[in-house]
Amino acid sequence: MRKPKPKSYQLIRGMKDVLPQEDARWGFINKTAENLAQSFGYEYIETPILEDTNLFVRSVGEHSDIVEKEMFSFADKGGDNVSMRPEGTAPIIRAYIEHGMIRETQPVRLWYNGPFFRYDRPQAGRYRQFHQFGFETIGEIDPIIDAEILLMTNQFFQKLGIPVSIQINSNGHPECRARFLKVFQEYARSKRSMLCDDCKKRLNKNPMRIIDCKEEGCQTVASSGPQIVDHLCEDCRTHFTRVLEYCDEVSIPYVLNPRIVRGLDYYTKTTFEVWAEGEQEAAQMSLGGGGRYDGLAEDLGGRPTPAIGAAFGLERISLRLIDRQFQKDRPDVFIAQLGEKAKRKSLGLMDKLAKEGIKVISALSKNNLKNQLEIANKRGARFVLTLGQKEIMDETIMLRDMDAGTQELLDFRKVAEEMKNRMKDNGISVKEIKNGDEPKN
Ligand code: HAM
Repeated sequence: MRKPKPKSYQLIRGMKDVLPQEDARWGFINKTAENLAQSFGYEYIETPILEDTNLFVRSVGEHSDIVEKEMFSFADKGGDNVSMRPEGTAPIIRAYIEHGMIRETQPVRLWYNGPFFRYDRPQAGRYRQFHQFGFETIGEIDPIIDAEILLMTNQFFQKLGIPVSIQINSNGHPECRARFLKVFQEYARSKRSMLCDDCKKRLNKNPMRIIDCKEEGCQTVASSGPQIVDHLCEDCRTHFTRVLEYCDEVSIPYVLNPRIVRGLDYYTKTTFEVWAEGEQEAAQMSLGGGGRYDGLAEDLGGRPTPAIGAAFGLERISLRLIDRQFQKDRPDVFIAQLGEKAKRKSLGLMDKLAKEGIKVISALSKNNLKNQLEIANKRGARFVLTLGQKEIMDETIMLRDMDAGTQELLDFRKVAEEMKNRMKDNGISVKEIKNGDEPKN
């Protein structure tokens, strides 16, 4: 009897594979992110995927879309309610408090890059598992820090080569917001018939969400209604003015946008989103967002600790780069071999070269020299080292410089040292192929 064909499996809805052909593009994004964070003195932090569900309820907000509709939450085998992190700020503040980072020199500057999870309606640029690169500066209230975060945000997109605008607003602190919400709620009630069904429900529970609702009627209501910047207290107004002055100082191209109220409850004062240039507002899927969250540490049981940060969606950034070509660094060396003895020696040589930090590839399972050289060519190896029977006997190895087209015989015992000297840059890096600059392979 024939065995039934096993079932094949597909990606779960809303999930995405990053495939080898996207490797160079993702490498470029990740490297750009890491270099940026390190240039500004940020230290890497990694928090777990799973956190106590209440951490997000108390920070992102009970009535936020994220907590109400989008969290992957479940009771674990021990009965604890846990959630797959939908965002990174609350876990980082949890870690900051838990590990007593308040005792370090303030502000503490942290960066992260990893997967996040939201059970959102999937579409291009919106996934249920996505990646964020983010940075947080914790323990400083001075508006110059807001400008530093905006400067880094702007520089990140400059380095990626993606034209963006930074849409900026101030949400004030909770008292300003409460005062504003009263006025706004009253106004929005008078326009109830123009609101979408969701916003009709939001009128009592979470009127702030009406302001950034994408429905046309709600947008009209929001843009002709009262604005939060007109309801800021003296302290919040001064803070915001200073942030904008600092941004002007370094020519950060911001756009004042009273509708940037953000979907997470923890924000205070400065809030912003990064929009791709030329995209319609209604179709807008922000490439990043952030702001101050001066009350979050206290809300999570810590000491009052002002902080600000931002995070960027890497899938959305990757989509913006799809028409550009990226190439990984070429391998430094390809080892070609002929005969069983040479094959054995090649294995040891690979080990030696790789230990020296040389990027070495080979095709040791192949016996045909022509096939091997084709692979070396295709991968764009800088040098080819060939070990044949004669070389084994003479304890030599043939070095071919693929760019110069020259050949020379090296002493086999000194080959690792020799190759190391020839490689100036041992770091694995990914660079963009500029227009007219043909890829080598
Ligand atoms: P957020 O605006 O919710 O902020 O997310 C930041 C970015 O993550 C968005 O601008 C977007 O690019 C990306 N993103 C969000 N949801 C999805 C999704 N379903 N699919 C693909 N990309 C997505 C935060 O998460 C805050 N923690 C940012 C922050 C850091 N605020 C202060 N510090």
